[in-house]
Amino acid sequence: MKTLVTGGDGLLAHQLKKIAPRNFELLFAGHAEFDLANPGLMAQRLAEWHPQTIINTAAYNLVDRCEIERDLSWLVNATAPETLAKLCAEKNIRLVHYSTDYVFDGKKKLPYAETDTANPLNHYAAGKFAGEQAVLRASPKNLVLRTSWVFDWHPTQTKTFVHTVLKSAREGRAFKSTTDQVSVPTFATDLAQWTLDLLRAGAGGLFHAVNDEGVSRFDWAKIILDEAVRTGLISSAPAVEPVLSSFFSTTMRRPDYTVMSNEKLSRQLGRPLGSWRAGLRKMLAQMK
Ligand SMILES: NC(=O)c1ccc[n+]([C@@H]2O[C@H](COP(=O)([O-])OP(=O)(O)OC[C@H]3O[C@@H](n4cnc5c(N)ncnc54)[C@H](OP(=O)(O)O)[C@@H]3O)[C@@H](O)[C@H]2O)c1
Repeated sequence: MKTLVTGGDGLLAHQLKKIAPRNFELLFAGHAEFDLANPGLMAQRLAEWHPQTIINTAAYNLVDRCEIERDLSWLVNATAPETLAKLCAEKNIRLVHYSTDYVFDGKKKLPYAETDTANPLNHYAAGKFAGEQAVLRASPKNLVLRTSWVFDWHPTQTKTFVHTVLKSAREGRAFKSTTDQVSVPTFATDLAQWTLDLLRAGAGGLFHAVNDEGVSRFDWAKIILDEAVRTGLISSAPAVEPVLSSFFSTTMRRPDYTVMSNEKLSRQLGRPLGSWRAGLRKMLAQMK
């Protein structure tokens, strides 16, 4: 199966590269080589490369910047997936796309299922929601995986929450973390594996693709630090100060509770999806 992976230098793409078996012929294209903001280039690349499947990991992920770069972020997160999905439908290419827990407004306070109504609160979330819906509309063969708080090791990229917490501990800085933001950390290697398993099974539609167990940012930070001490990455865990999101007072609205239920995906794959705790241990072991 010849598969094009967009966003080829990103976190998830790296894990796909790491785990894909030989019978998956993966072609990785970085930002410049396959620019979602350039529809002409996308069409040209598809005509040159003839993929049977596209795994679209590329996105404009800087949630705060999306409020400022409104046109560009909408182009990448909403318009481009629609354009790509139309090109794919014309050429009978299956498209895999990723979305976010932020499509929900956080008011439910119980894990969200795929059947729950979305209500994006900010520009990033609205763009991602428009993008995923366009991909789902274009073909029943397409797959959309909504995920959250993705983390893993990457050779050059150090922008996950795990990296931020460890950097702050190493620099001996006090760390503040929110108690009112709750979601599910998701290990990118697991997300990559679920993607390949779904492709193998010929599944289509919308899935919540997250590990087990919701956690607040505050508890997530404390668990990262404790595990880093156990692994020997840091000698002791600094205190984490609990704060509310309002402390960081951006004008942008973020949902507070966005835990998603992974029951549908777990049923489809026929196995439990496992905790992010195992992924955290693997990531920290790689960082030693
Ligand atoms: N990371 C999370 O916590 C999280 C949470 C929810 C959903 N997701 C979704 O999961 C998917 C994978 O995320 P990830 O963590 O692997 O993201 P990532 O590490 O930020 O990778 C995304 C890649 O997209 C590239 N990119 C940005 N603009 C582009 C454009 N116009 N054309 C082509 N490539 C472009 C980036 O390249 P440059 O850096 O060179 O711009 C980057 O390499 C995304 O759809 C994301 O929205 C992620």
